[in-house]
Amino acid sequence: MVKAALPKQLASGVCRVSPRLMDEEYTCGRWEYLNDLEEMARYAVIAGYCRHIGDISSVLDLGCGIGLLRAWLRPVEVIDYVGVDFSTVAIEMARIRWTDESTKFIATDIATFVPDRKFDVIVLNEVLYYFERPDWILRRVAAFLKENGRLVISLWDSPESRRAWLRSRSSVHILDEVQVRHRSGLSWEIRLCRPRLVAT
Ligand SMILES: C[S@@+](CC[C@H](N)C(=O)[O-])C[C@H]1O[C@@H](n2cnc3c(N)ncnc32)[C@H](O)[C@@H]1O
Repeated sequence: MVKAALPKQLASGVCRVSPRLMDEEYTCGRWEYLNDLEEMARYAVIAGYCRHIGDISSVLDLGCGIGLLRAWLRPVEVIDYVGVDFSTVAIEMARIRWTDESTKFIATDIATFVPDRKFDVIVLNEVLYYFERPDWILRRVAAFLKENGRLVISLWDSPESRRAWLRSRSSVHILDEVQVRHRSGLSWEIRLCRPRLVAT
C-alpha cells in the first residue's frame, strides 16, 4: 500500500515519519490512490469488523488520513467517530468533507494523544508500521478502549508490516484475521484484536 520506500526515522524515536512530510505528501496528492478501487476491500473488511462487534457507538480512527473510513461506518450506528492524524493538511481535508456533529477530527500525534473518553473500537488502519515500537503504541491506546472494546488493525504486506505484526504479538490477542488480496498483487492483513492484559 505504501508504494514508495518508507523514509528513515525523521521525528522522535517513536515514529518513522514526520507531520511535515505527510503534509507535503497530502498536498501533492501522493495519497489520492487510497480512493482507488484496489483499496476498497480493505476499508470494507475494517468496517465489517467494526459492525460485527455488535452495539458499537464510538470509533477512534488513529492515523485516519482524510477520514476515508468514516464513509464506511453507518452514521446511525457510529454516533461518535473521532479521527486522529498528525497531518494538518489531511485533517483539514477531512473536516471539509465531514461537518456533522457525530464526527470529529483532531490534528495531533498518536504517540501523545489522550482522548477525553473511551471508545468501543479503535482502528489502526495502515499506520502501525510507522512506529519503532508498535507494541508500545498498542499498549498505550488500549487504555482508551471501553471494557470489551476491540482493536482493528490493517497492515499491507511488506517487511515493515511483518516486523510490526511480530512486535505487536505481546500486546494483543488476535480474535480473527482476514487477508485481502487484490488482483494487482497488493495484499493486506486485517486483524480483529483485544488488548492483552498487562500484569501490574
Ligand atoms: C498510509 S496513511 C493511512 C490513512 C488512513 N488510515 C487510510 O487508510 O485511509 C497513514 C496515516 O497515518 C498518519 N500518521 C503516521 N504517523 C502518525 C502519528 N505518529 N500520529 C498521527 N498520525 C500519524 C499519516 O499522517 C497518514 O495520514
